[in-house]
Amino acid sequence: VMRLPFFRKDRFPPVLPAHLAVIMDGNGRWAVNRGLSRLKGHREGIKKAELVIDYCLKRGIKVVSLFVFSTENWKRAEREVNGLFKLAARYLDNTKDFSRRGIKVVVSGDLSRLPQELVGKIERAERETSFNRVMTLNLCINYGGRAELAHAVNEIIRQGKSAVSEKELGEFMYHRLPDPDLIVRTGGQMRLSNFLLFQAAYSELVFSDTLWPDINEKDLDGFLNIYEHRNRNFGEVRDTGKTIDA
Ligand code: IPE
Ligand code: IPE
Ligand code: MG
Repeated sequence: VMRLPFFRKDRFPPVLPAHLAVIMDGNGRWAVNRGLSRLKGHREGIKKAELVIDYCLKRGIKVVSLFVFSTENWKRAEREVNGLFKLAARYLDNTKDFSRRGIKVVVSGDLSRLPQELVGKIERAERETSFNRVMTLNLCINYGGRAELAHAVNEIIRQGKSAVSEKELGEFMYHRLPDPDLIVRTGGQMRLSNFLLFQAAYSELVFSDTLWPDINEKDLDGFLNIYEHRNRNFGEVRDTGKTIDA
């Protein structure tokens, strides 16, 4: 990614993203490049998820979404899928570590297909961290943007509504979180892969070739620096009274 030499202090809103979302891609390639198993890459990946969380706590970012497992990731070898679920379950076991840092854990995704052991850990982590207020950590597990929209529509039908506004539709997503200001994807691919389709309407997108397990604090500084220099217009052109007429 392009590095910019200084931080702009003169712009508001928002200099920092309130909600940072991350597509943590490249674990498998990182491992295979080293002659290791893909699961070893995912284990390293979790360490970097922790790095991002602590970095965001330090910077005061209030909401962090991490893409852990997509609705399409079932198309991988069963051993990799099960290994990922085991790693996620073990990670969620440390509810004390979350609470010590004031982190509220929420999980977005279709839990119905996940192993019962993992679902139990998810429910426990959500329950035991629900009063924490420093940061919300949104873990996207068996998450797909299309599945989330289908879930919303089905819930709207179940409640017998005949029409909803854009705003109401947003309230039927898995959790009520602000839209991500910044979505970062590592690993070199420039696509969303079904991540936060509804919420990404006006997110800033930053792509990096770095494989996820190689991510460090300097890279994170770089992503925020790029974000800070973006012009977020939201479709608006301010009328200065000079440039609109010929
Ligand atoms: C992203 O890394 C993590 C998950 C999808 C769970 P990948 O496993 O997709 O790594 P690459 O893209 O194959 O290198
Ligand atoms: C996106 O990465 C999903 C996660 C990071 C969990 P993928 O590696 O699954 O995406 P594609 O298949 O390259 O689009
Ligand atoms: Mg990948």
